[in-house]
Amino acid sequence: MVVLPIKIYGDPVLRQRAGEIPKLDDSVVKLVSDMLETLKQENGLGLAANQVGVLKRVFVVNLSHVKEGEKPLAIINPVLVDKAGEIIGEEGCLSIPGIFEDVVRAKKVTFKGIDISGKEITIQAEDLLSRVMQHELDHLNGILFIDHLSKIKREQIDSQLNKISEKALEVKKSSLVKDSQ
Ligand code: NI
Repeated sequence: MVVLPIKIYGDPVLRQRAGEIPKLDDSVVKLVSDMLETLKQENGLGLAANQVGVLKRVFVVNLSHVKEGEKPLAIINPVLVDKAGEIIGEEGCLSIPGIFEDVVRAKKVTFKGIDISGKEITIQAEDLLSRVMQHELDHLNGILFIDHLSKIKREQIDSQLNKISEKALEVKKSSLVKDSQ
């Protein structure tokens, strides 16, 4: 298992739509296990493939460090088939470090997709799991949680966001220099 580098706000891959996974092969299995390892390492709740630079429709969730006994899950080609209610809660994102804001989400959701063994699955979730799954599905569509904020709120964090993307660009440039040496 490999810990993958996380793409940071400003990277265009976070704004692209990930494509369906037509066939579950070894590369997908490896991607999922690397994503789970990366999520654990970063202490995050969820991670979508875009965030590690892969435009494939898969995300992983691990709530074990906030809810005891929760098993990590991976869902391939996830589809939101039903939702109900509304709930406000604070969100952050591994790709947007240091920013935490309240976001309105559906309270209950039902997702369909495929698990890592290739089996069709249905997941019913509420509250935190529901929130994380909606956040991760957004990633696969190139949407970030900050897109759900009011215009005023978004303006308030604009300079912070600019700093994050500038810093990410600097890191990228310096690693390119290193790679070419
Ligand atoms: Ni995120």
